[in-house]
Amino acid sequence: MGPLIAPSILTADFARLADEAAAVEGVNGADWLHVDVMDGHFVPNLTIGPPVVASLRRHTQLWLDCHLMMTNPGELLEAFANSGADSASVHVELGQTEQLCAEMRRLGLGVGLVVNPETSITSAWPFLELIDLLLVMSVHPGFGGQAFMPEAIAKVAAARQEIDRRRLPVTLQVDGGIDATTAVVMAEAGARCFVAGSAVFHRPDHLGALRSIHEAAASAVAGPGAAGR
Ligand code: DX5
Ligand code: ZN
Repeated sequence: MGPLIAPSILTADFARLADEAAAVEGVNGADWLHVDVMDGHFVPNLTIGPPVVASLRRHTQLWLDCHLMMTNPGELLEAFANSGADSASVHVELGQTEQLCAEMRRLGLGVGLVVNPETSITSAWPFLELIDLLLVMSVHPGFGGQAFMPEAIAKVAAARQEIDRRRLPVTLQVDGGIDATTAVVMAEAGARCFVAGSAVFHRPDHLGALRSIHEAAASAVAGPGAAGR
């Protein structure tokens, strides 16, 4: 399977979300739409919640991949599911991961787990059997447009190895500072789903920017040494 590209609406124009989603949807367009939910506590920024997801749901067919940067995601998982979210990802730093994963599964959501830059990737190992998506952050969460942290490369490689060793159907996602250059490095390390905010929505040609990231990642995935992954 080729790489998945998930444009992050964090860097889109929030007053024109339906248009921004439509701009990346279509043939050779986005695979998922990444929705950054921030509560002003877990991260020092505040964005959107279930009502906006519900509005967006009426305007796009894209898979809504909700990245929950929240201290208490459990309180709103049901509301996200009811609003039309397709998957939700919670941070491993919060604890209670098993319960949160079970709740997401019960609600019919895709189950994602996120690992912050300062958190060891091995903290995700106990939960790999429970999840569909493992997200390795390559910036400190909270804001778009930050510089890519190269420390994330080794974490992605370790995660790729562990997922493959256990033969698990877990999609390995990266988020933060991803563009056509860093996507190559992350694809070579083993990432298969690429969140990109400013590299898509801060370019006038959103779709063209997205395609260049897709092509870069696809060629790296297909390159020498990456066969079969
Ligand atoms: C950061 C968010 C990211 C963000 C990425 O807290 O989780 O999804 O939108 O933006 P870029 O691609 O600009 O780093
Ligand atoms: Zn995100």
